[in-house]
Amino acid sequence: MTGRRRGMIIAMDGPAGVGKSTVGGLVAKALGYKFINTGEMYRALTWRALEESVDLDDHGAVVALAKRLAWEFKPVEEGGITLKTFLDGVPVTGQIREERVSVNSSRVAENPGVRKFLSKLQRELGEEGAIVMEGRDITTHVFPDADVKIYLDASPEERATRRHRQLKAAGQDVDRNAILAAILKRDLNDIKREINPLKRASDAMIIDSTRMTMHEVAESILRRVRRGKKDAR
Ligand code: DC
Repeated sequence: MTGRRRGMIIAMDGPAGVGKSTVGGLVAKALGYKFINTGEMYRALTWRALEESVDLDDHGAVVALAKRLAWEFKPVEEGGITLKTFLDGVPVTGQIREERVSVNSSRVAENPGVRKFLSKLQRELGEEGAIVMEGRDITTHVFPDADVKIYLDASPEERATRRHRQLKAAGQDVDRNAILAAILKRDLNDIKREINPLKRASDAMIIDSTRMTMHEVAESILRRVRRGKKDAR
């Protein structure tokens, strides 16, 4: 599969707040690959739709907006590993992490036309290889034939604790139980979605990171990468 490619396609899925971006960035850095977080694309479109007061339940209008925008994915600084989403020439900012975007992104993510549009962009981005791509449907739908497929998991309680710690370090004291409730709700939205829901691909390597550091998770993925695809699972 890597025949004419520059390197492997490493696909990674898992629930919200499990550390896919941190781990994906570490793996990409170790291999000299690019990294992309596809959730950013769903968030960018949600943010833009909210800004333009597009009705999120009007699936056609949201798809039309997606098609009207100029999408680009490139590092913000020269030689950077992470491919950032640019809309109409401007990189998305922290605005896509706002609560209103988090809450509404699952409505945009259940729009079949949006999924088709973004999946196509993701395939185009990854087809040359030398990439780590993470999301909810990368191992099952976008790149079911990826060279290495990872499903990263952790208990909801552990994910809430990690998020709470992060926010506290950033000076925000949000109630841990509120964070846990939000995580459980997002899990449910991702799992029960009709099209391309979050699920474990039967041939994915499953890593439960509840009691692991992000560096340990990255190391175990790198060991699998070094062994190659042949004996995956
Ligand atoms: O990973 P995240 O929380 O930033 O993702 C934002 C939203 O996009 C969330 O509702 C899940 C959805 N998503 C998706 O449906 N498919 C992907 N490949 C990536 C994200």
